[in-house]
Amino acid sequence: MKKKFAVFGNPIKQSLSPQIHQHFAQQHQLEINYERQLSEQHRFNQDIEEFFKTGGNGCNITAPFKQMAFSLCGALSEQATRAQSVNTLARDSSDKLTGHNTDGVGLLKDLTANLHLQLSGANIMVLGAGGATRGILQPLIEQRPASLTIINRTIEKAQILAEEFADLLQINTASTSDITDNLPRPDLLLNATSAGLDGKLPITDTSFITKDCCCYDLSYASKPTSFMTLCSDAGCSQVYDGRGMLVEQAAQAFTIWTSKEVDTKTLINDFDQLNQA
Ligand code: ATR
Repeated sequence: MKKKFAVFGNPIKQSLSPQIHQHFAQQHQLEINYERQLSEQHRFNQDIEEFFKTGGNGCNITAPFKQMAFSLCGALSEQATRAQSVNTLARDSSDKLTGHNTDGVGLLKDLTANLHLQLSGANIMVLGAGGATRGILQPLIEQRPASLTIINRTIEKAQILAEEFADLLQINTASTSDITDNLPRPDLLLNATSAGLDGKLPITDTSFITKDCCCYDLSYASKPTSFMTLCSDAGCSQVYDGRGMLVEQAAQAFTIWTSKEVDTKTLINDFDQLNQA
């Protein structure tokens, strides 16, 4: 019987997860069923329960349900515990449901294995202090950067995150409207805000961005995001979107569910075709 997978979110039409996971399954001649599932806040827990009751083997969780998924899990991976959010649910042979967060590891794989960036000793700056940032802090810290700075429109949220991760690293914080010269100039600038969803820019001042800074938007689109354009206009030549992270986080989830490793390079290279399919 075909294994049954799904991705739950709202909205969900735009999700490329079904195509990505079918691609992985083909690499192993596996036939799987992978569907997009639209859910609602008031029935999310029920939807998940129903999915697993009716034979679901595993599912992905996307916005806005990652924190709700975290709350409903009996068991959690270390990354999910730190991130306080879950993007992958897996049912083991004894029917136990475990929550994982593969976003951070997915990002790290893209930055280091695909883009060959050296993060150890680098000054890293993250824009945003929401769920996306929470999911990537631990794996970034594990790379031993020289500094890590969180910039957020609402500084208090950046400060709360810094306190929460203070046992791992002393994190600098600043408000978007006050990115001072005292902060380390970033070698890597990550956009983890949701500003682009509303067609807005996460920052307007780009004077702190040097030309050799690598800029990476955790979101992706068929054309460069507004953040990517901003960075290119500031003179940066290394500017990326989050397609690699998307494929890599999916690969981690696929391995959790099937214990099989997958090739991600082809899919990342052919991503535009996937996006148009
Ligand atoms: P996600 O799970 O995608 O991270 P979130 O938890 O709602 O979503 O966090 C969204 C992040 O994007 C926040 O850091 C938010 O800033 P605030 O904490 O000040 O709300 C940031 N953000 C959203 N719209 C933004 C905008 N127009 N300009 C700057 N930052 C923005």
